[in-house]
Amino acid sequence: MTAEAIELVRQHLDRVSVPGAIDQSRRLELRGRIAQLLKARNAVLVAHYYTDPEIQSLAEETGGCVSDSLEMARFGKEHSATTLVVAGVRFMGETAKILSPEKRVLMPTIEATCSLDIGCPEDQFSAFCDQHPERTVVVYANTSAAVKARADWVVTSSIAVDLIDFLDKRGEKILWAPDQHLGLYVQQKTGADVLCWQGACIVHEEFKARALLDLKKVYPDAAVLVHPESPEAVVAIADVVGSTSQLIRAAAELPNKTMIVATDRGIFYKMQQAAKDKVLIEAPTAGSGGTCRSCAHCPWMAMNGLENLCHVLEDESGAGQEIFVDTETARKAMIPLQRMLDFGRSVKS
Ligand code: 13P
Ligand code: SF4
Repeated sequence: MTAEAIELVRQHLDRVSVPGAIDQSRRLELRGRIAQLLKARNAVLVAHYYTDPEIQSLAEETGGCVSDSLEMARFGKEHSATTLVVAGVRFMGETAKILSPEKRVLMPTIEATCSLDIGCPEDQFSAFCDQHPERTVVVYANTSAAVKARADWVVTSSIAVDLIDFLDKRGEKILWAPDQHLGLYVQQKTGADVLCWQGACIVHEEFKARALLDLKKVYPDAAVLVHPESPEAVVAIADVVGSTSQLIRAAAELPNKTMIVATDRGIFYKMQQAAKDKVLIEAPTAGSGGTCRSCAHCPWMAMNGLENLCHVLEDESGAGQEIFVDTETARKAMIPLQRMLDFGRSVKS
């Protein structure tokens, strides 16, 4: 990341406010109230795997969805509810709104963002694209609506390798943004000509290869599962590299009894459900990173809690937590997003 991007990330992190612990009776009261309000408002809860297990279980119990970012986009678009409550980070809410402009999209907090989104401002990104007009622009879903509007394709980690391979076979050179590690990974997997924006996820960047090798010595039979936003040296140790959904599937299907998992620890809730008899261990992060306290947990995902979720449903005005995307940006961003959904249907993601 550039020094400027690191400073922007720091400023956002200063504003992060993670919900405090709540006692059992308040917890149950909030869960009941949220379930009731979802019904009353014809709303459905769409949650990412990295949110608190409390939010994930509520989404499951109320007929919502808990998934990766690609499936969140699909689910929100196809569901008949008139309001989508997106528990995740801002780009997920924006994607939902672009794909379903007729629906109301609320988030427990629209302050929840992503270092990849912050580190790829639209004006600088557009200038980068203008310098390379011969390249097909592929952006990761973890970007603003304005950056998507500048792209030919949007992609999530679950279909990134397949899409770059497909474009490479058509003879296209790629301009990839914003995640440098995922960009390098898809380049190495496909051999495509990929020019990368130098963004990074502050959570996955903190996984450490040396400490992971040490942990492997303690658990020599464990399989190592790694999200491709992690650094190259960590990816190199992996038995399976994949999106959140792909890692959950691998945990269930691999014969190993123990898994060392290099992605946000929020994933353990669904991974343990899918792999009941397996032992799941967090891959090591170490010390204090450049921008983030090392903890394998996304500070912005952690902002989603029962209190702010209940509040956004109680306040019919949306209380500043409703997502809007201007019509022209949405129209342009819809094109690469629809391509992502159509392409995703054609591959096993
Ligand atoms: P997935 O697309 O695998 O859900 O990942 C989203 C994300 O933010 C990873 O850090
Ligand atoms: Fe962004 Fe990383 Fe958080 Fe995912 S885990 S939302 S990539 S900061």
